[in-house]
Amino acid sequence: MIEQRKLRVAVLGGGSVGSQVASLLIAHGDELAARAGAVLEVVGVVVRNLDAPRDGDIPRELLTTDASALILQADIVVELIGGLEPARTLILEALNSGADVITANKALLATHGPELFEAAEQVGAQLHYEAAVGGAIPIIRPLRDSLAGDRVSRILGIVNGTTNYILDRMDVEGDTLENALAEATRLGYAEADPTADIEGFDAAQKAAILASLAFHTTVPLEAVHREGMTSVTLEQVVSARKAGYAVKLLAICERITDAATGVEGVTARVHPALVPLSHPLASVHGANNAVFVEAEAAGSLMFYGAGAGGIQTASAVLGDIVSAARRHVAGGPGVAESTQANLPVLPMSSVTTKYQITLTVVDEPGVLAAIATQFSDRGVSVEAVSQSVRDGGDEARPTATLVIVTHRAAESSLAATVTALAASPVVSSVVSVLRVEGQ
Ligand code: NDP
Ligand code: HSE
Repeated sequence: MIEQRKLRVAVLGGGSVGSQVASLLIAHGDELAARAGAVLEVVGVVVRNLDAPRDGDIPRELLTTDASALILQADIVVELIGGLEPARTLILEALNSGADVITANKALLATHGPELFEAAEQVGAQLHYEAAVGGAIPIIRPLRDSLAGDRVSRILGIVNGTTNYILDRMDVEGDTLENALAEATRLGYAEADPTADIEGFDAAQKAAILASLAFHTTVPLEAVHREGMTSVTLEQVVSARKAGYAVKLLAICERITDAATGVEGVTARVHPALVPLSHPLASVHGANNAVFVEAEAAGSLMFYGAGAGGIQTASAVLGDIVSAARRHVAGGPGVAESTQANLPVLPMSSVTTKYQITLTVVDEPGVLAAIATQFSDRGVSVEAVSQSVRDGGDEARPTATLVIVTHRAAESSLAATVTALAASPVVSSVVSVLRVEGQ
């Protein structure tokens, strides 16, 4: 009988994801060997603390603190430490030693992706990262391979499970943001310091990765416009539902043409937005993720599932390991990252979007006309207006609530309109401004 080829796999990190990856590689060894065409031997798992308790079933003798020594023995290195350093240095060590690398590290890819892809290309190695966006959801390979023959025009993604859980709980249970965040922390969705989730940093990293892949263009993290969701109130969520919307924190990547300059480019942004209840993204509940892709030929596609979790994320990592092993067995260099389009990355002011603006206004003759003028003076067209019965102020100066939805207009014109409304003598207060997406 011919002995099957053996590939040595080093797992850097034995935490939530790494421990599951190592355990599944060991437990499903025969099945994975049959699929990969080679035995996948776990040669070690790098951790900081050899005595810390771990999920999964990892033989104690596989644990080590010496990452560099382990990398030198490996054909495939799986980086599941997280953060920028030492992950970056260890991945470069692995690539330079000729190993293929698998990582789930969105922070590192969004910050140092071009350097790592360049290093992989130099040595003909593979760098796979299916788990970096959307956890278990296959979205990287569909964008890189399945849609490589199409032109992606837009991506709308719910790519952070913690914030989707919080917003969904506010919507479904009527919880405040503070209570929903406390519950997300209790359930282990939010980090001990949830800033990366609720301020949109995590989603911005994922947006940079998705935009780079979808538009064959390097989109740096600094170019992603980012607004968190900490200013979203329960009142906004409740009135959004009454008006037929759900509030979601979206990562939006678009290929656009700047109306003023005619320059074609790409944009990436993260902010809370109103999504019509009829849109598939409005039905993404709990800590789930979904990525809605619009492509010229394919039309609309949605990828949905668990965006986090140790074993769920391990599924995507294992897929990458099998894929890397198959290439090892077949031979030949890894496929380089495609950035051939090299489109300019346009600023937020080039984006066109729709706004829903809620105002408390003085309820007297001429007010509606005065407000309409603020919109028309800035070239913003109003799509719908609804006014409540008098609901505030006093007898001398009663007020009412006005909800205005605009047509798509330049972000800069919309922002200028909101500033002008806030300064208008007929506006008591600007209660809420939210962008509307998915229409
Ligand atoms: P954890 O914090 O649970 O695990 C990190 C592991 O790395 C631990 O085993 C830790 O050792 C080890 N480690 C940390 N620093 C060092 C170091 N300097 N040297 C050696 N080992 C070190 O992280 P996760 O498993 O949650 O995440 C891993 C990666 O996967 C991250 O990039 C994350 O963004 C990504 N990811 C995670 C998801 C999730 O649901 N958890 C979802 C999608 C992506 P020790 O155990 O001894 O402390
Ligand atoms: N903190 C992230 C989330 C983990 O809530 O989605 C997955 O990247």
